Amino acid sequence: MHKTVGDLLVISNTQLNHDNYLLELQSVEKLDSLKPGQFVNVLVNEAPNTFLRRPFSIHDVDYLHNSFSILVKTVGEGTKKLVKATVGSKLDVIYPLGNGFSAAHNGEVILLVGGGVGIAPMMQMARESKAKGAEVHILLGARSKTDHILLDEYSNHGILYITTDDGTLGTKGFVVDHEIMNGQKQFDRIYCCGPEPMMKAVAKKATQNNTQCEVSLENMMACGFGVCLCCVTPTSQGHKCVCTDGPVFDINDLKWEI
Ligand SMILES: Cc1cc2nc3c(=O)[nH]c(=O)nc-3n(C[C@H](O)[C@H](O)[C@H](O)COP(=O)(O)OP(=O)(O)OC[C@H]3O[C@@H](n4cnc5c(N)ncnc54)[C@H](O)[C@@H]3O)c2cc1C
Ligand code: FES
Repeated sequence: MHKTVGDLLVISNTQLNHDNYLLELQSVEKLDSLKPGQFVNVLVNEAPNTFLRRPFSIHDVDYLHNSFSILVKTVGEGTKKLVKATVGSKLDVIYPLGNGFSAAHNGEVILLVGGGVGIAPMMQMARESKAKGAEVHILLGARSKTDHILLDEYSNHGILYITTDDGTLGTKGFVVDHEIMNGQKQFDRIYCCGPEPMMKAVAKKATQNNTQCEVSLENMMACGFGVCLCCVTPTSQGHKCVCTDGPVFDINDLKWEI
């Protein structure tokens, strides 16, 4: 797939809660098609200590306006600087990167599971899967009620289930504790993104239920296009680069002990 390195215009920057921001970036040229689960690599302006680009999942795409959004959680210097980008400024972005999720088909029953900022790629995935005629279920987990964002927007694209670690919203516990993960419904495929322990727990449930499952890994990255090899993960076909062979993998291809 053709990759673009370009200056994108920041057309909106919305603070969603204490540490999450939604940035909408617009290209002057027509956007090529972007697959759910692909990511972009963003250069952080005027940040000498964060010279490596920072990877972010594509949150959603608006082909009509040649724009896409990224959901940024502030964790360190790069993201704290990035969320200060003002409307009208430009960001140097390489896009699209990675393979993306397998498409869901008409009539399939799918479950999208997002934990923390791992919910990011699930918006485009939910919207496009529903448009293709899949029955979309979305399970989002977070530490507490105030960590949950964009719930109305997700619920526009599927049947929404919520967990919080502290029980302040939805089912108390982790995503795998929700009844939807425990045999209440049979899914054709599960798609998952979030912290690795969460993805391993979801992979275990999927294996027990004989359900296909894809996970999106968030290994540390530098180049983002297969040159530095700092993002490799062991698979049944040897070591693979998460940035080019992934970030999405079938759980059966990963050498995870679950
Ligand atoms: C494929 C992929 C998709 C991602 N999607 C999103 C997303 O949609 N939204 C979001 O908020 N975050 C996402 N991340 C994580 C995001 O890239 C990091 O949080 C960000 O790079 C941290 O930069 P920083 O300078 O603020 O933090 P730093 O001060 O550099 O580090 C803070 C923490 O972030 C992690 N981190 C730092 N640099 C990287 C890097 N280059 N790659 C991966 N992890 C890193 C480290 O584990 C570290 O503990 C994604 C990561 C990957 C690999
Ligand atoms: S980040 Fe450089 S090879 Fe993947």
